[in-house]
Amino acid sequence: MSFDFIAPAYRVLEGIAFGSALQRARTELLRNLRSPQRVLIVGEGDGRFLTELLQRYPGAKIDCIDASERMLKLARKRLLRTNPSALGNVNFICADIVRWEPGSVRYDLIVTNFFLDCFNAVALPVVIGKLAAMSSSHSQWLVADFHIPPSGFARMAGCALVTTMYAFFRLVARIPATRLIDPALALHSHGFRQDERASFLGGIVVTEIWSRD
Ligand SMILES: C[S@@+](CC[C@H](N)C(=O)[O-])C[C@H]1O[C@@H](n2cnc3c(N)ncnc32)[C@H](O)[C@@H]1O
Repeated sequence: MSFDFIAPAYRVLEGIAFGSALQRARTELLRNLRSPQRVLIVGEGDGRFLTELLQRYPGAKIDCIDASERMLKLARKRLLRTNPSALGNVNFICADIVRWEPGSVRYDLIVTNFFLDCFNAVALPVVIGKLAAMSSSHSQWLVADFHIPPSGFARMAGCALVTTMYAFFRLVARIPATRLIDPALALHSHGFRQDERASFLGGIVVTEIWSRD
């Protein structure tokens, strides 16, 4: 699995396919977070969420992990261009989250934007369990992802879109997942409950804040 190949074109392709909807989903609930101090962003991509997070919460200290070196380079470059004084707040880590060995830090915010959908039904609960173990007893979890609405035209459109997306990312990034798995069960099992939710594109894209307290 590698997003290196697609990284330089990622933003343009996203714009062609979804306009501004995915960036709105990443940032819609930012203002509702409880002023995070220690943040873990997993699978950040090209830095568009990272820069917005630091604009709103300049005091946050962030560990930003991505398995793609090219994505991380783009994220670093974007931050250098838009908010160079914030560079010292971010620790960029090129690693596979499954193998990464965390330190003793407990994060009060975990962010997984369009990331959990990269994992299959076996790996997803393991990844969520690992991230939950790194989060504090009162932490929040911000998650944006695709979603298949329960019925109607939106469901048909969602199924068609998600199937196409998986075919595309399996081809260009060799992701192991073949279908969308709802992370709710695993999040619940680690003591998180859903606090807020916003949806876009008729419910095909959602963003949620989950909290543990
Ligand atoms: C679909 S992209 C999403 C990027 C970005 N978060 C967004 O909102 O568009 C998934 C990102 O997760 C990274 N990724 C996928 N599997 C990973 C893993 N096991 N460990 C760390 N990063 C991973 C990829 O390199 C890629 O940057």
